[in-house]
Amino acid sequence: MLNRLNQQPPDALLALIKLYEADPRADKIDLGVGVYRTGQGGTPVFGAIKAAERKLVEEQASKAYLGPEGDMGFVHALMPIVFGEDVPTGRIDGMQTPGGTGAVRLALALAKRSGVNRVLMGVPSWPNHAQIVADLGMELVSFDHATPDGAADLKALRGALAAAGEGDAVLLHGCCHNPTGVDYTDAQWDEIAALLAQSPVLPVIDLAYQGLGRGLEEDAYGARLVLAAVPEALLAYSCDKNFGLYRDRVGALYVQAGDSEALGRIMSNGLALARANWSMPPDHGAAAVRLVLEDEGLTAQWRHELDQMRERIGQVRAALAAQGTAGALDLTPYGRQFGMFAMLPLSKEQIQSLRADHAIYMAGSGRINVAGLTTGNLDTFSGALAAVAG
Ligand SMILES: Cc1ncc(COP(=O)(O)O)c(C=O)c1O
Repeated sequence: MLNRLNQQPPDALLALIKLYEADPRADKIDLGVGVYRTGQGGTPVFGAIKAAERKLVEEQASKAYLGPEGDMGFVHALMPIVFGEDVPTGRIDGMQTPGGTGAVRLALALAKRSGVNRVLMGVPSWPNHAQIVADLGMELVSFDHATPDGAADLKALRGALAAAGEGDAVLLHGCCHNPTGVDYTDAQWDEIAALLAQSPVLPVIDLAYQGLGRGLEEDAYGARLVLAAVPEALLAYSCDKNFGLYRDRVGALYVQAGDSEALGRIMSNGLALARANWSMPPDHGAAAVRLVLEDEGLTAQWRHELDQMRERIGQVRAALAAQGTAGALDLTPYGRQFGMFAMLPLSKEQIQSLRADHAIYMAGSGRINVAGLTTGNLDTFSGALAAVAG
């Protein structure tokens, strides 16, 4: 039986990491991998998380099973950060998931279980979105996320929603769109929320980078507005970026239902799906986040560390935009976009030449991790861009 399986292509980004590591050139630049980097190129553990982990080692009395919902102290401690202080009580609850990926997977599986067959999504998107939709046997209905001049394409979203109906869901990035960096403005979110209020389409919001765009509150603007406008919605959350916990796999799925009775029923289905998929999520990272959020001092430290990350990303974006152009490329839109990622409109040949001739590594799609740029390598990068896109 197993021998019938066809070879699957290797994950392109993981293959890129290997190529980068094997490159002996001292001035090589890695813009491929999607993790935050400091100005020195590292991805350190947050100080607040280190302190919480020490506390955890000291205080954790047992590692007995928790259940498919995971650490509910974590799930609830995160809610004021995600939803603000005025969470509608009795209509929203959540469960811990293995990372944001587990949350997206569970959100879409839950949507499918309730009769959703089609998922509307702006493209390009994080590649795993389409893979999860396909793996669940759902249909992907794609529309353009961004216009060529680097703004969100609201016309395309309006059109997709107008053509959709009962049995459809729309997957929206809450902030820091991956891979384009093109976020909806507050005014656009106002319009999206108004459209969704009139539509039977189920909103599924993927909030994977809260705090890395404009700020913790600002990055939740769209998600909160949509949830306030509709009776039902799903929100997939990742703490892997804004707490720097990537490999510890920390996320949550939040469900908003019409009333508390429906919420209980929907959550019971989410828990059944979690049980059948991974039984229960890994504990360590979520417990560390809970300890941070339960402690005022550690929360302040975490917020400060997150502010520094966001400020650095903003500085790199501003420095890139300040270069104006690189050959035929207009770099100014990158200063108006948010989060770690940006798309460069380069051909396969240009991306290949950047790698071969200039030791600059980026995804084959043209996505770069802005955080891979530093004051030390920015000029080299824009010089190489000008050379290939001249
Ligand atoms: C838009 C988006 N959603 C979800 C995720 C999943 O994140 P996690 O590492 O927490 O699974 C990512 C990670 O790259 C992402 O970019």
